[in-house]
Amino acid sequence: PKYTLVEKDTCIACGACGASAPDLFDYDEEGIAFSILDDNKGTTPIPIELEDDLEDAFEGCPTSSIKMNQKAFDHTPNNVK
Ligand code: F3S
Repeated sequence: PKYTLVEKDTCIACGACGASAPDLFDYDEEGIAFSILDDNKGTTPIPIELEDDLEDAFEGCPTSSIKMNQKAFDHTPNNVK
């Protein structure tokens, strides 16, 4: 499975990810994106039917702030390398 979270420190609130993957990404009050499924923890497996959307969001983010991993993230989003 795939996991995702948003590196909020580098997100510039461009809005591309939510357009590509509306079921996966939403925005906080400042327009900064986060992953919906697990409140940006990156610990919930992405449903298989949403993996294409995730791929699009990953490739479409201008600041590479969409992080993707094959296993659950085990660190806080703002420290994702
Ligand atoms: Fe931010 Fe990238 Fe989405 S800049 S709003 S994470 S496409």
